[in-house]
Amino acid sequence: MQGRFITFEGMDGSGKTTQMRLLAERLRREGREVLETVEPGGTEIGSQIRRILLDSANQELRPTAELLLYFASRAQNVEQCIQPALSAGKIVLCDRFTDSTLAYQGYGRGLGEETVLTLDRIACRGLAPDLTLLVDVNVDTALGRAHTRNASLFSSEETRMDEQSLEFHRKVREAYLALARHYSSRFRIINGHGSPEQVAQRVWEAVAQHV
Ligand code: TYD
Repeated sequence: MQGRFITFEGMDGSGKTTQMRLLAERLRREGREVLETVEPGGTEIGSQIRRILLDSANQELRPTAELLLYFASRAQNVEQCIQPALSAGKIVLCDRFTDSTLAYQGYGRGLGEETVLTLDRIACRGLAPDLTLLVDVNVDTALGRAHTRNASLFSSEETRMDEQSLEFHRKVREAYLALARHYSSRFRIINGHGSPEQVAQRVWEAVAQHV
């Protein structure tokens, strides 16, 4: 019995993390077994890698080192958590996966799609999402929400990526929309504007036929 692997993608501040939590609650209410995980992070080792990646003190981190760290976290998560949960028939919800790396490092940083896909083959060994939900909002909405979040005490140190230029975030959104067109059979674009409940309903409509 193989489970379902569903990933959430979108810009910082798109609301995908809230949406993933709401979907997990709904699936559990329906009696489904769900594993929620996050990239970077998801495992104890991944959380340590996450600290390096998102610490705004690490301004010297070079794009190639950044890329390899995202994949180091992912390789650990795939082998330790994601693959075993799928083998046990669970629904795995992952907050970001390789599409983030394609959008942020491949396109945003200009490292290129081929490099990212080569590392994906090594780190994920052929594991790809069954369904990817791209929670899409315009860049102004995303940055506005991200800044409000970063102003709160808890996440104030995890801002290295959010501090990138407006141009960088525009590129990331463009890259996501291009990915959704390219991998149209597994991608669903979710309009992320509106209340969390409204967006959750759109997410549910996209997911219901897949689980
Ligand atoms: P996170 O706190 O998860 O952001 P959000 O809650 O907005 O999703 O931080 C993850 C950051 O790391 C985010 O700015 C995107 C970036 N990132 C990459 O650049 N490449 C990747 O492969 C992944 C997984 C994330």
